Amino acid sequence: MIPPEVAREIERLVKELNFHCYRYYVLDSPIISDEEYDRLYRRLKELESKYNYILPDSPTQRVGAPPLDKFEKVIHVEPMLSLDNAFSYNDLLEFDRRIKRLLTTEGDIEYTVEPKYDGLAIELTYVDGLLKKASTRGDGYTGEDVTQNIKTIKSVPLRIEGPNLVPKYIDIRGEIYMHIKDFEELNKQREREGEQLFANPRNAASGSVRQLDPLVTQKRKLHLSCYGIGKVEGISFTSQWEFINWLKVARFPIPIIVKVEKGIDKVIKAIEEIYGKRNTFPFETDGVVVKVNDFRMQKSLGVKTREPRWAIAYKFPAHQAITKILDIKGSVGRTGVITPYAVLEPVRIGGVTVSRSTLHNWDEVERKDIRIGDYVVVERAGDVIPHVIMAVKERRTGSEILPKRPNRCPVCNSLVIAEEGEVALRCISLDCPAQVQERLIHFASRSAMNIEGLGEKNVNLLYSQGLIRHFEDIYKLTKNDLIKLPRFAEKSAQNLISAIEDSKNAKLAKLLYALGIPHVGEYAAHLLAQNFERLEDLYNIQKEKLLNIKQLGEKTSDAISSFFNNPKNLRTLEMLKKYGVRVTNPDFKGYHYEKKPFIGLTFVITGTFPIPRKELQEKIFSLGGHVSSSISNKTDFLLLGEQPGSKLEKAKSLNIKIIDYDEFLKMIQFKK
Ligand code: IVH
Repeated sequence: MIPPEVAREIERLVKELNFHCYRYYVLDSPIISDEEYDRLYRRLKELESKYNYILPDSPTQRVGAPPLDKFEKVIHVEPMLSLDNAFSYNDLLEFDRRIKRLLTTEGDIEYTVEPKYDGLAIELTYVDGLLKKASTRGDGYTGEDVTQNIKTIKSVPLRIEGPNLVPKYIDIRGEIYMHIKDFEELNKQREREGEQLFANPRNAASGSVRQLDPLVTQKRKLHLSCYGIGKVEGISFTSQWEFINWLKVARFPIPIIVKVEKGIDKVIKAIEEIYGKRNTFPFETDGVVVKVNDFRMQKSLGVKTREPRWAIAYKFPAHQAITKILDIKGSVGRTGVITPYAVLEPVRIGGVTVSRSTLHNWDEVERKDIRIGDYVVVERAGDVIPHVIMAVKERRTGSEILPKRPNRCPVCNSLVIAEEGEVALRCISLDCPAQVQERLIHFASRSAMNIEGLGEKNVNLLYSQGLIRHFEDIYKLTKNDLIKLPRFAEKSAQNLISAIEDSKNAKLAKLLYALGIPHVGEYAAHLLAQNFERLEDLYNIQKEKLLNIKQLGEKTSDAISSFFNNPKNLRTLEMLKKYGVRVTNPDFKGYHYEKKPFIGLTFVITGTFPIPRKELQEKIFSLGGHVSSSISNKTDFLLLGEQPGSKLEKAKSLNIKIIDYDEFLKMIQFKK
């Protein structure tokens, strides 16, 4: 039995620590020192383990949960909606007019204006004030249970504390996001460790939350901002403004600015103010969210498919800056393609420092007439990868230099060819160090053999030491080889060796993708695995046999056939086997065919959807279907989103079956 005074001390410590956590992580204004906090924490930990009395909202419960095998599914009681976009003030005026029409009023409407956080939407479920569950948005209806991960984020309250009235049940929605500086720091660290980089803070936040091991999430610096509500019981709110104020009292982090304005003109003024400040925010924002403040009005306006009629996201224009091109160089990819890029005078664009920009291909450089020494407009849309929009010709001095298409490879100095019908320039040497290294990086990458720790940096290092040239060399590496190298210590060497060992049991589809056969991406590799049980079944394969697979075209079949008829490649595959690579093939149709109802079906997607396109594609893909980028008479379905493009007309003219997102959801529900 625990003495009552100890129980009281534990209860007090939990309350106190949670309060200081709130001061530090939500208000950003601590009132005790870190040492003092640590002292209290240690005291609590000591009492908890001594008396085995642990409160559910104890700060010690944020950490230490074991890794999961997979995420459980969570069905959202109220669907998590997405937002319609406005790209101009005109769109906003139209939005306001529509609302007035629907509400049959002429008076000014009251709106809230909040910055739109660019992260990952999350739902937090509190029962009797205690955090019970945290789930991702998923497709809006079903998400993933990420409770253990979310608990590691210190600004997420474990208990609703503060207001007089604690609701019996409440689903609170918010965004998990990463500060730009933490994102840059994380990418730097990943670069050092040879890991794949995140494209933007949003991907970094999302990748950090959707981690099976809470320890990884805990190490990432994530934040929460709450803005929405799902199912509630035992409390009610009359407006967004009232709800936001309740969140504040209940110690939830809320958007950095929330304004309430009457009339769309004032809303636009508020947007301008936020736009002017957005570069001072520590996080990335691509717009603001405008919501009808009054909940009764929201209710009567309702929802169209997946977007509420009472809210809209106004998107800011993309981030741009002007800077100087110091040089134009070529980088050599895995297949030898030489892509031009601009070396820029470093410039900050929307909080991210940019010093390099892709120029896509040499035709484009010429078409845009971009020269070395030019001042150029550089734009960064959602991603970190910036694009050169145009040269500022008025600023030319005459000393700018026209870039030359290389006739030799910038890395190995071999001759460069321009293939017929292609804009790309290609280095034709198979031994070109750049190509060899890119091939190895691709082989080890996550979607291929998934050898963690064998990213760009380590491949470069191992290559420069002469340790790896061919795929099979990876499997000859020993811990001893690694420990001698500057970037490795006992533990990191062991980790890489274990990762290599694990990759030996890859799926056939992954190996086929890893080999880097021209035109064979993840989809074609998957198809091959569905149709050929063993790797050896592909040896010396004839093109005709491949063409029997409906979704494989002429070019791809050719490339696969010539790959598997080249004795050098077959030797490589035999060597991989010799060094222990033993692929399995769970994708083979013989076993799974009945679970893959989309096999043989080709989808084309147009318009925007409540879930990212990539996810749609993956769904179709996982059910055996194929996604094509253009309509032809091979297309079976056109999946129609909001604001469709010209594909709709084309599909109609070819009499192709058109389905919308709801119908699609139904299709996959029955076909899971
Ligand atoms: S309201 C029905 N408010 O934007 C209202 N969303 O494009 C739905 N987001 O899934 C959301 N900041 O992940 C709302 N202040 C904010 C937001 C916000 C970011 C995200 C959220 C949502 C997406 C919709």
